[in-house]
Amino acid sequence: MGVIDMNVQAELSYPVPEGVFAEKVVSVKHYTDRLFKFRITRPASFRFRSGEFVMIGLPNAEKPIYRAYSIASPSWDEEIEFFSIKVPGGPLTEHLQKIQPGDTVLMRKKPTGTLVNDALAPGKRLYMFATGTGIAPFASVIRDPETYDKFEQLILVHTCREVAELGYGHELMDELANDPLIGEFADKLTYVPSATREPYERTERITTMIETGSLFEELGVPPLGPEEDRAMICGSMDMLKDVKALCEKAGLVEGSNAAPATFVVERAFVD
Ligand code: A2P
Repeated sequence: MGVIDMNVQAELSYPVPEGVFAEKVVSVKHYTDRLFKFRITRPASFRFRSGEFVMIGLPNAEKPIYRAYSIASPSWDEEIEFFSIKVPGGPLTEHLQKIQPGDTVLMRKKPTGTLVNDALAPGKRLYMFATGTGIAPFASVIRDPETYDKFEQLILVHTCREVAELGYGHELMDELANDPLIGEFADKLTYVPSATREPYERTERITTMIETGSLFEELGVPPLGPEEDRAMICGSMDMLKDVKALCEKAGLVEGSNAAPATFVVERAFVD
């Protein structure tokens, strides 16, 4: 047990469970009454691949409730970032939304997931299709230099109901442009935000953008296809089903860590 664990342990009323890290909240930022991000300390021994998720919980019960959260920070970052929805009455998020710097968050030690570079065959363009908090794993993937080594062009398409919900994504783009490690690649990344229930520069769903071809027209690229394009999808169950069907219609094949192919899918878990 390291020094940090000992300090955290002093504040817990029970032993840190086996297989769990107890980490400190470093910062919290609320975007809307439904969305917030928080950053926690990173245990020195914790390794993950950009795009993976991990189970997190709070030390507020004898048997903490854990939920799957995509890690939004890249694998090289010294802290761990999460982007979360606040579910009214949600067993975890109701408490999690109240966390403050210095509080303790529990994180299971084993990360996993398919929205990783390893699960995709090499390609020219990487499309990342996200709705709501489904942007979180892509916030990790687009901050990893490895992704820019693997693909010539990265396209992050993100739709939310309201304009304010796009705040996290816009902030990410601003940070990225000024990042000493990733900034030099910024021109390889295109961000395509859309707000579907308010007036905005773009108001279509991802499915509409793909079906009508407006996305490819705007980007000046050929329609989605298996030769050059790879895709990662993250959002609600309905969104996954519909976007997956469009990827398959375009000739892409679902991949996994064991069998890399041309697109991968993961649910944005907490809803
Ligand atoms: P819309 O406003 O047209 O429903 P939600 O909060 O319901 O998960 O929605 C987040 C975003 O995902 C919204 O922009 C919403 O569009 C969009 N969305 C919801 N369901 C689908 C779907 N089946 N396919 C594509 N986009 C979807």
